[in-house]
Amino acid sequence: MTVKRSLLVEADELPAAQDDKLASLHMSRLVIPAAPLAGFHGAASSAPPSTVSAILRMEGAGDASYVKYSSGQANINAELRPMLATAIRTYTEFPSSGPIRVADLGCSVGANALGFAECISNAVLEKFKSLGLPAPEIQHFFSDLPSNDFNLLFSLMPHLKSGEDDWGNLDNCREMDTTRSYYAAAVPGSFYDRLFPRESLHVVMSTWSMHWLSHIPTSVTDKSSPAYNKGKVWINEGSPAVAEEYSKVSKENLKAFFVNRGVEMVSGGLLFVMLMSRKDPCRKEIQFGQPLGLGSPICGMFELAWNDLVDEGVVDEDTRDSFNMPIYCPSADEITEAIDESSAFRVEKLEIWEDIDFLPRATAVQLATNPERWGAMAMNMSKTMMLTLVEAHVGPEVAAKLWDRLQKQVTAHCRRTKTVFCANSPGCNIALAFLVKK
Ligand SMILES: C[S@@+](CC[C@H](N)C(=O)[O-])C[C@H]1O[C@@H](n2cnc3c(N)ncnc32)[C@H](O)[C@@H]1O
Repeated sequence: MTVKRSLLVEADELPAAQDDKLASLHMSRLVIPAAPLAGFHGAASSAPPSTVSAILRMEGAGDASYVKYSSGQANINAELRPMLATAIRTYTEFPSSGPIRVADLGCSVGANALGFAECISNAVLEKFKSLGLPAPEIQHFFSDLPSNDFNLLFSLMPHLKSGEDDWGNLDNCREMDTTRSYYAAAVPGSFYDRLFPRESLHVVMSTWSMHWLSHIPTSVTDKSSPAYNKGKVWINEGSPAVAEEYSKVSKENLKAFFVNRGVEMVSGGLLFVMLMSRKDPCRKEIQFGQPLGLGSPICGMFELAWNDLVDEGVVDEDTRDSFNMPIYCPSADEITEAIDESSAFRVEKLEIWEDIDFLPRATAVQLATNPERWGAMAMNMSKTMMLTLVEAHVGPEVAAKLWDRLQKQVTAHCRRTKTVFCANSPGCNIALAFLVKK
């Protein structure tokens, strides 16, 4: 399958020539106003009736760890990293003194977060070197919800590079061959709220995260509401009224994200975001196209597994209907609207990648010949993301039954169709945007 990539926005105006140090380095940028806590009061907030932000956690150390079951995301991230490095070279304006501060929002655990940290620090160092300037100190903030397994993330982290810059070592860090050129810190909290002091960040990124909603709209679990999500656990191919309620939460969330980053970033700083997106701007309930919608372990298969539990009398219909997956894939228009409403960013580039492949072709074809293996893998991919939400809803015993039924559904689907959801399966789209803080 050919992945269709549409470039929706590319700014005509390129930044000032890179050979002019003074044009691209603004020494006055790093002024952080006094009274740092003031920002917390004035900040746009997701004001959550939120259960999601309090419960959601990608599996850390468990069997279904995100460290092991994120290779699909990793494959796409490998394509994004060179684009991000180019954007840092092309669009950013850094101060010539003081640390360069970077934040990865929704970092989770594992190689994906560490790979981006390495890519960004290398790009920043190269940019300074190309300008004939001394290497800056770089501080990289790994940010996620408070329940994220930051300990695991830090235990996987390479040593600090030691030597001429007197950057020291992290003695209790796991022995690794590689080194890093940034100081690391964790920042717990929702990216729909304020996380950092005003005008303190130079590069901010977020991948695979902003399609997670801060909360489920109350109307979709209210039986008397026309938007009650009867018979389903998500919005794909469901009632337009339910999808509309989801879209309202997404709209608030996206706006809060861009407004808060607008406060936290310095002028000239780079914001890179990538999130799952939807092709059809009008039909909000068509989140994934077919056959992905049917074959996906977080979509059609996940729903079928819940139905199995209902049919077997393990849970009643109300229990299934009151579980709702907190994901919404906005269209390019919805993302652009939120950026515009924040008035804080200039869009340098906005692209939609349609029908992405999560796995390399050869791997997917091979997995399709082994339905049992694929069933277990796909179940774990779903479990790594949904475990805490499902267990909070039905407890660990019923949750274990759900994963078992999901594995069986995926295995049977693979045996029947001789495909895995991520090969020859159009339907999954992502949006990526490179923005510069005005
Ligand atoms: C699929 S992981 C993405 C990890 C990594 N960025 C990558 O590229 O693989 C999504 C992450 O977003 C986080 N997340 C979801 N909603 C969030 C929120 N409101 N604030 C901060 N993090 C959030 C989740 O906890 C999870 O760790």
